[in-house]
Amino acid sequence: MASSNHYPQHIALANPKSPITEAYRMIRTNLQFAGVAEETKVILVTSSEPGEGKTSTISNLAIVTAQSGKRVLLIDADMRKPQIHQRFQTSNLDGLSNLLIQERKLEQCIMYSGIDNLFLLSSGPIPPNPAEMLASSAFADLMKWARGEFDYIYIDAPPILAVTDALVLTRVADGTVLVVDAQRTNRNMAQRAVGMLRQVEARILGVVLNRVPRKSAGYYYYYYDSGVQGGAHASTEGH
Ligand SMILES: Nc1ncnc2c1ncn2[C@@H]1O[C@H](COP(=O)(O)OP(=O)(O)OP(=O)(O)O)[C@@H](O)[C@H]1O
Ligand SMILES: [Mg+2]
Repeated sequence: MASSNHYPQHIALANPKSPITEAYRMIRTNLQFAGVAEETKVILVTSSEPGEGKTSTISNLAIVTAQSGKRVLLIDADMRKPQIHQRFQTSNLDGLSNLLIQERKLEQCIMYSGIDNLFLLSSGPIPPNPAEMLASSAFADLMKWARGEFDYIYIDAPPILAVTDALVLTRVADGTVLVVDAQRTNRNMAQRAVGMLRQVEARILGVVLNRVPRKSAGYYYYYYDSGVQGGAHASTEGH
């Protein structure tokens, strides 16, 4: 098990007892409950606009899920602004993009994170046609394989309103979590993103409100969207 000193950037490791880490555990548990009704193994995390906290949310969620003893694969499908390799300090020479064009083998690309049960597939070199790659049968085959190997597969994606990638990814995911920056995202943008997800008949698992000011949030704050599972917040004090 890697010590938290290796990953000060992940609050779930740096401060496992903080209310924020506890909030991530709550989200994990809600996602596990969602799996009772319908398979919820492949979870897509996206947002309406850039910078709302997708990568921070998915990284911490993947960590607390792995810590619960589940085998987890975290895929960086944000092939426009990949960040997972930086957060986990791994190489990005071998990853999703060169795996999909069969330039690399699976075993070269799936990396152990150094955290028990957590495996990473970084984006690989940025390709010119991310949306096409994510719509390819090679990607569908990869996901089929991953479903057999892992308990949970988390997919980090670009924002919905910018490019089609996230909507394309909903086809392989069992559900989508929408991260909303509580301080910046306006209601219109979030609603547009939800509307687009509904249009492609994505199963929206819930909304994670990120950067909720402590005052309004208290330690725990839940936001329920469309009667599905609610998400917990991560406050401004950490990520
Ligand atoms: N709750 C938070 N408190 C403080 N800083 C945060 C919080 N959430 C995210 N950040 C910081 O904000 C920046 C953007 O967050 P992050 O990279 O997670 O967003 P993103 O949605 O993945 O962005 P992009 O659209 O560029 O991929 C990062 O520097 C991150 O460390
Ligand atoms: Mg990101």
